[in-house]
Amino acid sequence: MNTILITGSSSGFGLETARYFLDRDWTVIATMRKPRKDVLPASERLRIVALDVTEAASISRALNEAGPIDALVNNAGAGLMGALEGVSMEAMRQLFELNTFGTMAMTQAALPGFRKQGSGVIVNVSSAVTLKPLPLLSAYTASKAAVETFSENLALEVELFGVRVRLVIPGRAPKTSFSATARDRSQNGIPEAYASWAKQVFSATPPQPAEITTADDVAKAVWQAVTDASSPFRILAGADAVKLAAQVA
Ligand SMILES: NC(=O)c1ccc[n+]([C@@H]2O[C@H](COP(=O)([O-])OP(=O)(O)OC[C@H]3O[C@@H](n4cnc5c(N)ncnc54)[C@H](OP(=O)(O)O)[C@@H]3O)[C@@H](O)[C@H]2O)c1
Repeated sequence: MNTILITGSSSGFGLETARYFLDRDWTVIATMRKPRKDVLPASERLRIVALDVTEAASISRALNEAGPIDALVNNAGAGLMGALEGVSMEAMRQLFELNTFGTMAMTQAALPGFRKQGSGVIVNVSSAVTLKPLPLLSAYTASKAAVETFSENLALEVELFGVRVRLVIPGRAPKTSFSATARDRSQNGIPEAYASWAKQVFSATPPQPAEITTADDVAKAVWQAVTDASSPFRILAGADAVKLAAQVA
């Protein structure tokens, strides 16, 4: 029996990934800051476990409760938009605590188990914003670029224990809670000195491309990362991510 632990399973990509693996006979440990039993179908193979990836005590409690796992998906994360001058250091630190240090802390805590069993897969969810520089997204992009380089280096030091690391790189997914959460965190991200330029940036932005990423695209990419040992290190999720990667190649 295969067991996967997914962070941020209350909504969006994490929720869909939990559903996808449940449908394919995996045991799923769906972790959430505020555990909810009503978002996933009841199953003997489903366990809902409380986890805040920014708190060390919560991480060790969750992993103890989970027991041995075969795969860890570091999906929990949030966005932040604004000019660097418009985003507080506190907001940026909180973002890195979640997107970057949360991923590193979960990975560090799961590794002893993987190492002892001589196997395991770590899937880190990044973002297609790392493929091409964009204005007003410097903090968010930096938090995900750090996850990518961290993952690349980590892969080299854990492969000797039979542990694989993969990146899933989704494009823009407007149907998850991501944009609303990013708006709340960003608050007044565009100071007066940037206002007219930011207006031009937004009006020069072509209409949103028809291609988008869905939660199902991400669940499928995570499935490939976990179940296919020959999968590439970077797995793009969503037609827009695939198109952008081809444009910048
Ligand atoms: N949507 C996009 O356009 C997009 C594109 C590329 C990459 N991504 C990345 O994909 C991942 C999932 O995003 P999504 O679109 O599915 O957004 P989402 O629906 O907002 O999901 C984010 C998840 O992270 C959880 N979370 C937030 N803070 C947490 C914490 N401290 N500890 C544990 N869990 C926490 C949220 O839980 P609560 O319900 O408790 O807040 C929620 O379950 C993120 O890493 C995001 O950066 C998103």
